[in-house]
Amino acid sequence: MSKRNVIVAFGGISPEHEVSVLTAMQVIAALEDSAYRTIPLYITKSGRWFTGDVLRDVKNYKDLNKLTNSAEPCTFTLLSDGRPVLKTMTSGLFSRSDEFPVYAVLPAFHGSSGENGAFQGICETYNMPYTGSGVMGSAIGMNKVVTKQLCRSNGIPVADEIDFTEDRWVKEQEQILSEIKKLGKAAVIKPVNLGSSIGVAVVKNKEEAETAIETAFRYDSHLLAEEAISPLVEINCSVLGTPGENRASVCERPVGREELLSFADKYQQDEAAKGMASADRVIPADITPELAENIRQTAKKVFSMIGGSGLARLDFLVNGDTDDFYFNEINTIPGSFSFYLWEESNISFLNLLDELINIAIKQHERKNGRVQSYETNLLSQKAVKGMKGLKRSK
Ligand SMILES: Nc1ncnc2c1ncn2[C@@H]1O[C@H](COP(=O)(O)OP(=O)(O)O)[C@@H](O)[C@H]1O
Ligand SMILES: [Mg+2]
Repeated sequence: MSKRNVIVAFGGISPEHEVSVLTAMQVIAALEDSAYRTIPLYITKSGRWFTGDVLRDVKNYKDLNKLTNSAEPCTFTLLSDGRPVLKTMTSGLFSRSDEFPVYAVLPAFHGSSGENGAFQGICETYNMPYTGSGVMGSAIGMNKVVTKQLCRSNGIPVADEIDFTEDRWVKEQEQILSEIKKLGKAAVIKPVNLGSSIGVAVVKNKEEAETAIETAFRYDSHLLAEEAISPLVEINCSVLGTPGENRASVCERPVGREELLSFADKYQQDEAAKGMASADRVIPADITPELAENIRQTAKKVFSMIGGSGLARLDFLVNGDTDDFYFNEINTIPGSFSFYLWEESNISFLNLLDELINIAIKQHERKNGRVQSYETNLLSQKAVKGMKGLKRSK
């Protein structure tokens, strides 16, 4: 039997572009000897789409111009029978374009339009199965304010915060600074729609707050100021499944911040294949079994609440003195797909990806099983007459 094509989509216009390249290379390597054939779909930092075998090797990403010159521009399209394909857009007189029938799309983006529902919307529009959360779950997960408000209304503990737009900051700077002061001894300033700690800073006084806010506004027009949890212990947990049926992985305690390394740093041979999986962490997290279980149950609840699907990593802030915990954020496409957490449950990266693809196919079948359009053509003879009627009565 011929292999089924899985389109691994990555890169994109995002500050987390390089991390996405690493995640995608890991996915392509993991699926190498599987029942699937991976087709890379690389979106450049300027938004152009490319495919081709040259995109399979991490070493080729050192020179991005050379890379795109030897890759092929491509796009999704539907064949006349309605089947979706990824099609190369070859322009030569004697060269023919290739068409890859799509079995499933596997978005491996981090941040921005690849993770916030926009790319997921393209998959919906072409009626293609795709892994991970849908348009709504992805959009909610990307917005830290909306997620926190949903948590509050569902009784899930979150740290106190205020949020403000750039427009308001321009008009009411002093008022906002005094609201931030009320949050406590220290506050954390962060963009509402970003990841990888970009634009995040702990501030202890007015001057620090002003500087951090001005910096964060370079990345996002909407910011959060949150009470700083101290002493801080960070605990993450991954959830796999659907809103109705899911399970949680063991917890991890990341050590130090997962800051974005430079592109050159990441591509030092040894580290290249590891990406986020190479960061320091304690697995399972060295916390009490009660706290771990509470966090795992809360993670499942948040995943269901936002309508999550496939896999996500949910991050928590714990007060190290009291063991009080707060939900911090959900990553609907976590770095390295958090495969290292599932290995603890004896699920290999390949099995994890296989499960994600199967969930995508099932959700897609379920969706297509519902009535999606009416057979009656509203523009048929009779209906058009009706419209004329409307016109006359105007
Ligand atoms: N309320 C908080 N109190 C203390 N530290 C925080 C708080 N919020 C965030 N941090 C620190 O900042 C890091 C990045 O913030 P986070 O909300 O996770 O944003 P990102 O989406 O960029 O990862 C966290 O991993 C944590 O170390
Ligand atoms: Mg984070």
